[in-house]
Amino acid sequence: CSALSIANAKTIKIGTEATFAPFEFTNEKSEIIGFDIDIIKAIGAEAGFDVEIVNMPFDALVPSVLTSQLEGAIAGVTITEERAQRVNFSDPYYKSGISAVIRKEDASKYPTIDSLKSSRLCAQIGTTGANAAQKISGNFGSYNTVPEAIMELKTKGCEAVLNDRPVNLYFLRTQNDDSVVEIKELLNGEDYGIMVSKKNPELLKQINEGLDKIRKNGKFAEIHKKWFNV
Ligand code: ARG
Repeated sequence: CSALSIANAKTIKIGTEATFAPFEFTNEKSEIIGFDIDIIKAIGAEAGFDVEIVNMPFDALVPSVLTSQLEGAIAGVTITEERAQRVNFSDPYYKSGISAVIRKEDASKYPTIDSLKSSRLCAQIGTTGANAAQKISGNFGSYNTVPEAIMELKTKGCEAVLNDRPVNLYFLRTQNDDSVVEIKELLNGEDYGIMVSKKNPELLKQINEGLDKIRKNGKFAEIHKKWFNV
């Protein structure tokens, strides 16, 4: 970037919910980091805007974009028809889906997601994991964050946490915690998209073009490697 483009860069407000490693989470210095954060900043660098990341509860993101308190959001957000009625989505940027985390001691009791159908489940509020929990058993508790849902699982407040598989796998790989395991099954195939206010079609276009550029110039692959080859 030249000094001129930095001086001229516009800053846009992008929301996230930063307890969702490796997509968005905080480091020891309380800085918000992760795959999504690097992706939106790289897109901004291509498209000529700076990004201000705003951390908030997950279920506040769609309303905040809808009322223009945010220009957009990147938070491992699954592209759904229901959300797409209220906000625009960028082109898909990451393939995800839902899996279930259970207590290790229950591994033989719950060999499949289907075997959870009469169990109490946990999920993060307002997520596709919560929708999945609703479909599987209809008996579930919603928590503000995934770590809180996992805590509830460990203290036996529920039998499984329904959450995005890449986040579950990252958690199991990085937290030295062998009391929980994953049921090795992908429930729904889902795609993540960047949410943009419907009032700002120009920004949507810039984001899609920026995404395309970082895919072609290797930046996307570099960021992917940084967060997923741990
Ligand atoms: N992909 C899921 C959804 O869109 C969960 C996303 C949760 N994201 C987060 N940053 N907590 O509902």
